[in-house]
Amino acid sequence: MDKIIVLDFGSQYSHLICRRIREFSVYAELVPYDISFEKIKELNPKGVIFSGGPSSVYNNDAPRPNSEIFQMKLPLLGICYGHQLIVDNFGGKVKRANKEYGHSILTVDNNSDLLGGVGDSLRAWMSHGDEAEKIPDNFQIIGHTERSQAAAIANKQESVYGIQFHPEVVHTEMGVQILKNFVLNICHAKQDWTMESFVEKTVGDISKIDGNVLCGVSGGIDSTVAALLIHKAIGNRLKCVFVDNGLLRLDEEHEIEKMFKDNFSVNFTAINAKRQFLDKLKGVSDPERKRKIVGEEFVRIFTEFAEKSGPFKWLAQGTLYPDVIESGVSKGPAAIIKTHHNVGGLPDWLDLQILEPLRDLYKDEVRKVAAILGVSKKLLSRHPFPGPGLAVRIIGEVTEKKLEITKVASKIVEDELEAAGWYDKIWQAYAAVGDDKAVGVVGDERKYGNIVMIRVVESIDAMTADWTRLPHDLLAKISNRITNEIDEVTWVSYVISSKPPATIEPQ
Ligand code: XMP
Repeated sequence: MDKIIVLDFGSQYSHLICRRIREFSVYAELVPYDISFEKIKELNPKGVIFSGGPSSVYNNDAPRPNSEIFQMKLPLLGICYGHQLIVDNFGGKVKRANKEYGHSILTVDNNSDLLGGVGDSLRAWMSHGDEAEKIPDNFQIIGHTERSQAAAIANKQESVYGIQFHPEVVHTEMGVQILKNFVLNICHAKQDWTMESFVEKTVGDISKIDGNVLCGVSGGIDSTVAALLIHKAIGNRLKCVFVDNGLLRLDEEHEIEKMFKDNFSVNFTAINAKRQFLDKLKGVSDPERKRKIVGEEFVRIFTEFAEKSGPFKWLAQGTLYPDVIESGVSKGPAAIIKTHHNVGGLPDWLDLQILEPLRDLYKDEVRKVAAILGVSKKLLSRHPFPGPGLAVRIIGEVTEKKLEITKVASKIVEDELEAAGWYDKIWQAYAAVGDDKAVGVVGDERKYGNIVMIRVVESIDAMTADWTRLPHDLLAKISNRITNEIDEVTWVSYVISSKPPATIEPQ
């Protein structure tokens, strides 16, 4: 598979460069800026990109790539700080300049290769405080802005390019075209990064491991896809365990078991631990305490299973690429197999190595892999669900009664949103319940019943969220069904708090 490597000099946009390149089916990988010459040779890239970063090349401690990289004669593209590194390395001069943040108009001076097909000018996103004062010999200026005379430079014979702006951010017009020009026309990389090729390669890699693999599955997309890939590679040497903590959505435990057993013939054990979890949660109303109890109980049950059904050599996890980047674990070329101990609170003596088949993928790529592996559309489009489950959607103590109310009411919310065509447009939708009660009149009798809170939110990444302006008729229908179908409920309220200041889950 053809690869582009992106040397990470610390820009917040570094991973976006990979993201954009993968979107046109070329594999791109973010690597540390000081990656060794041997590692680069091993990766055998078709081209190299230097990312942006917060440093200045004239500072003594400025991060620099391994100098041998310049002798490899690979096509090079420097972006922002990477641009300045190229200027500096090939004998030009970088100076402190007036800061240039936000949009600038880039005038194209030469559109014969890197800036081919982008027109005469474009809006480019800038974020820099240094600029090239003198460009190196054998380079020419191919684009400029009012403030940066050398905003895009090229040495075509050597295939070395530098651009002061960020083509990877959506605010730069034609940014993808510029990356395509570099990757496809200058590096001549083939567009062979498809999820089909990923599945084939990953399954091939995993089939080489020995020993048994333990995989905790939650029914969520990441753990499901990780399990299916491993199963494809090693069959029944993979054992999946699903802990039913009694805090799942209505009937979810059966749906998950059915999916694994009927569709995927995976070695699957469902552990019904409802009683243990509910006993441990008895009398507890503090939200953080509830979360802690659920986490600890999960680890205990999981450990017992590992002890009983082992020995296992590997623990599979559904870690994704953004987690790898964020956690700073990306200390080298991402490998799907890495040795690591005591992850997720599991005891050291289990001595498990970690298998992370999805650690090179972004979420939308996981969804594509899921579709290839035959995961149902229903699971693919299901809203996210918190790890501690309904324990965080029940305010106060978790009781059987409140659990039943939340499950049935949430199912009504989901079904009605689905029927009205709203389900796929929103981030999450559920019903929560607490201990407050309100008076109702049923028939001719006064009744003191529970208050249910409906929460429906829109969000891009769960960091912020807004409550969804649902049509009143739809809200009325949901409310009607809840009070008619759940005896205990007298009042239904709709939550109109956004995040911030509220959170998506009530606890
Ligand atoms: P909040 O309530 O913090 O939630 O606005 C943001 C998103 O994260 C989910 N969430 C969790 N997911 N374990 C999880 O796996 C948790 O403990 C947890 N708490 C909240 C929540 O459903 C929402 O999508």
